[in-house]
Amino acid sequence: MEAPLDDLERVKTVDRSGMLEVQMSMPEALLNARRLAEEFLERGEVKGLLEEEPSALVVAGMGGSAIGGELLRDWLFGSSPIPIHVSRGYQLPSFIDEMSLVFAVSYSGNTEETLSSFQDAVSRGCRTIAVTSGGRLGEMSARHGVPCLRLPRGLAPRAALPYLFLPLALILDEMALVSGLEKELEEALRVLRGLRREVAPETPQADNPAKLLALSLSHTIPVVYAPRGYSGVALRMKTQFNENSKVPAYRAVLPEAFHNDVVGYEGPRELLGSLSAVFLRDGEEDPRLRAKMDVMRGLLEGRVRVLREVWARGEGRLARVLSLVFLGDVASTYLAVLYGVDPTPVESISMIKGASANPL
Ligand code: F6R
Repeated sequence: MEAPLDDLERVKTVDRSGMLEVQMSMPEALLNARRLAEEFLERGEVKGLLEEEPSALVVAGMGGSAIGGELLRDWLFGSSPIPIHVSRGYQLPSFIDEMSLVFAVSYSGNTEETLSSFQDAVSRGCRTIAVTSGGRLGEMSARHGVPCLRLPRGLAPRAALPYLFLPLALILDEMALVSGLEKELEEALRVLRGLRREVAPETPQADNPAKLLALSLSHTIPVVYAPRGYSGVALRMKTQFNENSKVPAYRAVLPEAFHNDVVGYEGPRELLGSLSAVFLRDGEEDPRLRAKMDVMRGLLEGRVRVLREVWARGEGRLARVLSLVFLGDVASTYLAVLYGVDPTPVESISMIKGASANPL
C-alpha cells in the first residue's frame, strides 16, 4: 500500500473507539474547559482558598491526570512565582502543609493513589480542590466539604487533557500567579486550529506532519528528548506512544541526558537499530543547549534507526507547549493505526488497577 494513513476507512476501522475525533476537537475542548472553570470560579466555593498566595502548588494525580500538572510546569517554566510540584503516589511530599494549594486530580475519580493523596491533603489541612468527572473522589470531596470541579464524563482520562490542564491554569490566573493567560490562549487556539488542518486525516500523508512522524517511528522504540521547559510535553508524548500506539517509549530531559544517556549510544548496533530519537525543539532554546544538542544529534546519526525533530509553533509559551502536545497526540493515534490496534483501550492499566490490596 502506498499511503496507508490516507485510507480513511482503515483509519476509522482501526480507531473504532474514536480517539482521533476527540483529539481533533482539542480547541473546542479547551473552550469548553474554560467555560466550566469560569462557572466553577463564579460559584465562589473556592474564593476563600484563593485569597492568600500559597507557598506551593501541588498537582496530585496519576498518569493522564498528572499530565495537566506537568503542562502547568512547562508553561510556567522560568516564570512561576511559587514552586509547582506534581505528586504521583499514595502520599504527598513532607514539605506540603496548610499553606499549600493541592489539586487532587483523577479523571475517573477512582484511582487509589490519588484518593490516598486526597485524604493526606485533607488531613494535613491543605487548601484542596478536587478535579474529577465523579467516582469516589466526587463522593469524598462532597463528604469533606472540599470544592470539586466536575468534568464531563465519557472520555479516556488521557483524552480529557484540555479539562485537566486549562482549569488549573485559570485558577492560577484568578490568584494573579500568572499574567496574560487570555491572550496566550487566544494565540494557542489559533495555532492549534492551523495545525489541525495540517494533521487532519483528510490531509495527505506527504503534507501531514503527524502522519509523517508516525510513519518514521513505525517499528521502532521512540525516545523523546526535550529541554527542561518541555519535559512534561515529552512525557506526554512518551505516554501517548505507550497508551495509544501500545509500544515501549521513553523520555529523557536535556541537558541532563548529555551527562549519561548519550553514552548508551556507544552500545551494540543491533540494540540501537530498534530505537528512534525524537527531539522536541523550540526557536528560543538556550544557545549553549543548542550547541550541545547538535553534537548529540551527530553522535546518534547513523546509530539509531530514525532521528527526528519536532518544532514547537507559536510565540507564547502556551501555544508552543500545546502545539507539541497536539502533534504528538495525533501522531500516536496514526502510529496505532499503522500497527492495527485500537488506541483507546488500555487493558494492562485496568488489570494492574484491579490488583489493589484494598479494592475500591
Ligand atoms: C488512561 C490514562 C491513565 C489514567 C491513570 C489514572 O487514559 O491515561 O494514565 O489517567 O490510570 O486514572 P485517572 O486519570 O482516572 O485517575
